[in-house]
Amino acid sequence: MTRVISVVSGKGGVGKTTMTSNLGVALAKQDEDVVIIDGNFSGANIAQHFGMGFQEVSLNDVMNGDAYITQALAKHPEGVSILPASILEFDADSENLKHALIDFLGDKDFVLIDAAAGVGEEVEAAVEASDEVLLVSKPELPALTNALGAKKLAEELEREVLGLVLNEVRGEKSEVRNEDIQDLVQEEIIGEVPDHKHVREAIALRNPVVSHKPKSRVSHAIHDVAHRVKGQEPPERGLSTKIRYKVEDIDLF
Ligand SMILES: Nc1ncnc2c1ncn2[C@@H]1O[C@H](COP(=O)(O)OP(=O)(O)OP(=O)(O)O)[C@@H](O)[C@H]1O
Ligand SMILES: [Mg+2]
Repeated sequence: MTRVISVVSGKGGVGKTTMTSNLGVALAKQDEDVVIIDGNFSGANIAQHFGMGFQEVSLNDVMNGDAYITQALAKHPEGVSILPASILEFDADSENLKHALIDFLGDKDFVLIDAAAGVGEEVEAAVEASDEVLLVSKPELPALTNALGAKKLAEELEREVLGLVLNEVRGEKSEVRNEDIQDLVQEEIIGEVPDHKHVREAIALRNPVVSHKPKSRVSHAIHDVAHRVKGQEPPERGLSTKIRYKVEDIDLF
């Protein structure tokens, strides 16, 4: 059965596109058949993360009924299929998103939808098109509060929330502690992706970090998310990835 998962955060710029791209590649490396869909019509970014040039045929054309989905699909060397949205045309009828996905259902193992920021109509369309929602946040109160808003949207639309991935984790005292995050968002933290220059390097090279630096701490953390999404315990790793930041406890609530 195809699992359709939207990646949502509420707050902008917290790592949805980075997470969607890398989770997609990580799942593909774990032998899953994956398609990544750019559901962020007002700020389409998936193509840039994968080093794709200007797309003659985009998801927008598919949704408008002007092209077949196969014409808009591109393939990354790691095996992920990518369906980019147009960067020039953001008034596509996002209600048609669900319809555009029908071709993949039953065929792919995973369809990942990179959602826009906020909880507006565009995000609603992405969540409605999916069965499950993955929340992404930084360990900061404003981002977490907005993640809670995104969770509320998912619940209103009766979609299952898979859990929360913390991104750009620095291990600084100012970050909200995991137990407080769980108290606030009431979701399992299924991954903690460090803030690391490898992510920025990978974006500059337009190749997801799990592909660019597969042995990086960041890549391991993303692979762990992929395992947890599949309901598996991540593998034990060597000492280097076991060394955790030293985080001093502070009370933020
Ligand atoms: N783990 C990380 N380590 C270092 N930098 C990161 C990490 N994750 C994201 N970034 C930085 O944050 C930027 C924003 O990430 P991204 O585009 O994935 O966020 P987004 O939530 O999709 O944003 P938007 O809401 O605009 O769609 C990236 O371009 C990158 O520079
Ligand atoms: Mg994005």
